[in-house]
Amino acid sequence: MVFFNFKFFTMSNSEQPIGVFDSGVGGLTVASAIKQVLPGEKLIYFGDTAHLPYGDKSGETIINYSKHIADFLFQKNVKVVLIACNTASAFAYNELKQYLDDKILIVNVIDPVVNYVAEHYKETKIGVIGTKGTINSGMYEKKIVENDKSIQVASLATPLFVPMIEEGFVYDDISNAIIRSYLSSNILNNIQSLILGCTHYPIIKNQIRKFFDFKVDVLDSANIVAQSLKAQLEKNNLLNNNNSPSNEDVFYVSDYTSYFEAIARMFFEERINLVKRNIWKE
Ligand code: DGL
Repeated sequence: MVFFNFKFFTMSNSEQPIGVFDSGVGGLTVASAIKQVLPGEKLIYFGDTAHLPYGDKSGETIINYSKHIADFLFQKNVKVVLIACNTASAFAYNELKQYLDDKILIVNVIDPVVNYVAEHYKETKIGVIGTKGTINSGMYEKKIVENDKSIQVASLATPLFVPMIEEGFVYDDISNAIIRSYLSSNILNNIQSLILGCTHYPIIKNQIRKFFDFKVDVLDSANIVAQSLKAQLEKNNLLNNNNSPSNEDVFYVSDYTSYFEAIARMFFEERINLVKRNIWKE
């Protein structure tokens, strides 16, 4: 099991916003689940659309981007930085924890899913799909098998999914063909469950479920991560108990794309405050 870090974060209090970042729209799947589980929390989202995709970049580059974004969120006075990107979680989680010197809580999207698997599966085969970076890091496989050697993990990189989703190719022939081409791989034969190891993928979750004739449990990390975040905020006395919905969320992007705006409006029902902010020039 991966245990939550429990510390007394002297610089944080429950009224502060939650900082969330991803390379683009993917983290919105997590942000939206957080708003459902914790409607009173205020979000500061950063989508690094100028550097998207993260999935084929080196670990060193991902760490640099992540530190810069974490600095920005820290300056925005967040109480927690949620790395809503599997690639950045795989490469930069430990570095960010060291970098911020435990001043604030840092949360990744991989550990909650690993814990969920440990609680719900045994002696079975589980598939993981994600970016090249996430899959090559071997992080899911390592952590799942560390918990339980009876689970066989089959990992497959599906690098076209992120650009496909960012370009708006969902629920059409092109995306169905790409999904079929990747997921027919023998690597995924006989899996009981498939982890969507990229926060972009819940956007095509139903297409993936349909590909498997609804016979495979497709694990969408967004809700698992939101529940885990709630537990971690509670443990650290950082949970905002205000249940009336906060309308103060702010969405920053390092480059403006109309698709980001459309997806953000879809997830947050038009109520979004979108700001372009090139933090690399500041
Ligand atoms: N949402 C990111 C992830 O979970 C996407 C990575 C990318 O930008 O390639 O890995």
